[in-house]
Amino acid sequence: MNEVLTLIDKLEESGALSLDEYERIVDGYTAENADILAKKATSVKRKYYGDEVYVRGLIEISNYCKNDCLYCGIRRGNKNADRYRLTREQITECADEGYDLGFRTFVLQGGEDGYFTDDVLVEIIRDIKSRHGDCAVTLSLGERSYESYKKLFDAGADRYLLRHETADKEHYGKLHPPELSFDNRMKCLRDLREIGYQVGCGFMVGSPYQTSRTLAKDLKFIETFKPDMCGIGPFVPHRDTPFAHEKRGTAELTCYLLSVIRLIYPPVLLPSTTALGTIDPLGREKGILSGANVVMPNLSPVGVRKKYELYDNKICTGEESAQCKNCLEQRMLSIGCKIVVDRGDIKK
Ligand code: SAM
Ligand code: FES
Repeated sequence: MNEVLTLIDKLEESGALSLDEYERIVDGYTAENADILAKKATSVKRKYYGDEVYVRGLIEISNYCKNDCLYCGIRRGNKNADRYRLTREQITECADEGYDLGFRTFVLQGGEDGYFTDDVLVEIIRDIKSRHGDCAVTLSLGERSYESYKKLFDAGADRYLLRHETADKEHYGKLHPPELSFDNRMKCLRDLREIGYQVGCGFMVGSPYQTSRTLAKDLKFIETFKPDMCGIGPFVPHRDTPFAHEKRGTAELTCYLLSVIRLIYPPVLLPSTTALGTIDPLGREKGILSGANVVMPNLSPVGVRKKYELYDNKICTGEESAQCKNCLEQRMLSIGCKIVVDRGDIKK
């Protein structure tokens, strides 16, 4: 048996590997190993979730951001970004439309926009929860204080997505300006967990300066933190960022890592991301076939979708919400999976 498969057996038996061992798994990528791991990962996923794929309605509430992350198309330094923010009414309208389409989770995502104070967000969360009490509200609004996270949780928010971006402090420093710190990112994740959120972390595959060692640290972090959700997608350059000319990540390595993450923490909620669908026309199908079990169709108003451009050529920016959902429904059916009307909580 080859070394990667021996290591995967060890992982399945003990639930843990050393950093060196994770690094050897990353370095051991071959199409053949990827195939074997994808089969193992889908079979593990089936034990928890069958052939059901959970959907999250993504509402991109603002592309204003006070941060200047080097990879991100809506960083404050991008003077070409056409800025927008949705009103409270627009956000509830998106959720109402999503509810009628069968969504039972809404993800409010955006840049770190000072307009969205705790008071404004509390009103929005209460609006959605009072109209759709059977739905989960997920926030993905970046770094905030413990007190702020607590207020939003008390208002009814259920989950929070905050990708750790990289579990290597030095690498973190190369992807972010000095005012953003690895330590604060990690503190936010711990705060969210302590408050009681279902917490999602994650990273980009193929980000500049990433190595198999930094990826091994990401995998080790996932093994120890055991996130309820884990968002990984390829890094895709954006023309108006300092990383415009960097290489993008590959669908192959992204899918391989999705399989490894499923095997590290079998119940994890794992999205097959829009970024994966952007670099490969069948990317989202391939992600599901590698062990992912979540898709996140866009519910944002069509008029703003192109403006929430984190990277070049982002897909799903022209369609109506219903079209977006139908498209993913068909794609999932084509690989023998079905989208379900469900909040889609983690089955631990
Ligand atoms: N502001 C929030 C935050 O920082 O968590 C949420 C929005 S942020 C745009 C969401 C995620 O998009 C980031 O965590 C990052 O991993 C991803 N992202 C940003 N730029 C990207 C790029 N060029 N390619 C792929 N993913 C990207
Ligand atoms: Fe703030 Fe990307 S720099 S969302």
